[in-house]
Amino acid sequence: MRPLLIALLAGAALGCARVEIPEVPPGAPVSYAQHLEPVVVARCIACHTRDEPEAELVLEIGVGYGEMVGRASTQVPALAIVAPGDPGGSYLWRKLTHDVEIGRGMPRTVVGSIRLPENELELYRRWIEGGALP
Ligand code: HEC
Repeated sequence: MRPLLIALLAGAALGCARVEIPEVPPGAPVSYAQHLEPVVVARCIACHTRDEPEAELVLEIGVGYGEMVGRASTQVPALAIVAPGDPGGSYLWRKLTHDVEIGRGMPRTVVGSIRLPENELELYRRWIEGGALP
């Protein structure tokens, strides 16, 4: 195998693969399908598939939105996974910022759970704050 391919595969396995973050102009609405879904699929799909979804959460294309928005967390049923307009009240945001008492912060990788780069977290935050639009 070529060194570049090996490096890319190793990066993906470690969860530190580069993910393209879409540019959304300041003040413009963030859409799940248009902006966030490709990022979610790139990072999260390994463990949140239909076949064996961890924590009963399926994040495959076309399904993730309905699985998260307004639906209760299985770990902390008092919280919605995504509460539109309220990152602090969204279990997803707590998992992504590693502010959790059950399980680990997301995403998990083979080297443990990692914190996403700031620009990626920012996209999630803007999406939730902006009303978690489809
Ligand atoms: C390597 C496997 C793996 C990856 C990749 C992964 N997860 Fe998870 N996820 C888990 C496991 C295992 C649990 C349950 C245990 C825990 O919380 O640590 C979980 C639980 C969750 C929960 C709690 C669901 C609920 O209803 O309470 C959320 C939310 C979540 N993951 C979101 C994500 C997101 C978003 C990503 C991508 C950024 C992601 N996960 C990537 C393995 C993974």
